[in-house]
Amino acid sequence: MPAFFRLQRFCFQREDAMEKPEDLIIPKSIAIILDGNGRWAQKRNLPRAMGHKAGCETLEQTVEDCVRLGVECLTVYAFSTENWKRSALEVGALMRLLRFYMVKLIDVANRNNVKALMIGDKSRFEKDIIEGINRLEQATAGNTGMKFVFAINYGGRDELRRAFGRMLCQMKENKLSPEEISEDVISSCLDTAGLPDPDLLIRTSGELRISNFLLWQIAYSEIYITDTLWPDFNREELLKAVESYNHRERRFGGR
Ligand code: IPE
Ligand code: IPE
Ligand code: MG
Repeated sequence: MPAFFRLQRFCFQREDAMEKPEDLIIPKSIAIILDGNGRWAQKRNLPRAMGHKAGCETLEQTVEDCVRLGVECLTVYAFSTENWKRSALEVGALMRLLRFYMVKLIDVANRNNVKALMIGDKSRFEKDIIEGINRLEQATAGNTGMKFVFAINYGGRDELRRAFGRMLCQMKENKLSPEEISEDVISSCLDTAGLPDPDLLIRTSGELRISNFLLWQIAYSEIYITDTLWPDFNREELLKAVESYNHRERRFGGR
């Protein structure tokens, strides 16, 4: 039976409780560039903000589906350091949604034993949004299931820039010498310290680029790009991505 149907049966049809087939691989860590909200709205003659709202609903469902799949870490790119360049109207709408969803996510996370974490530079947000992020992280800190990593005001280059700053501070305090800078030390200075690198990177809406997401962490991620726009990315689409991952041969430079 193709991996798609076995995944569906194993993860979403609990009643015929079956063991996870040994050859079926669930990526431990999935990262998603959720793109296409604007196009989804334009196709329907709706304001772009409506596309973002629909995208938030898709995200809630995706979090739950990843929990059921047994994913350990889901990282989603929701707002980049470059997205501030958009119109004040669109940025304003995104900030309003962020305020609302930060509260809603507490329920979604707690219902699913999910621990929510934020990566990116939160200092650029308004005070109440920063408080909302802190509340979400604190309210879910005790959860022991999947980690849900929310990348907002995130840029891979900006994250590296801040990591270099942290390393320089450690050097000034004589806690680190140039010879000691290993890949592990660099990883530990990133926002994603302690989190697994993505096994599978998904991008929706067909663009063939990384757009400054997790530049360091995706060194060996398997990439899956679909033309489906983010608000239309449902469970079936997620399973198609995981099925595709099941057909990859990961070599990490070896033979
Ligand atoms: C992704 O959707 C969400 C954000 C970047 C905030 P877009 O808003 O980029 O949607 P398109 O690419 O214009 O369709
Ligand atoms: C990437 O999407 C950023 C997020 C999904 C948050 P963009 O729509 O901003 O990327 P580009 O501009 O098409 O590269
Ligand atoms: Mg886009």
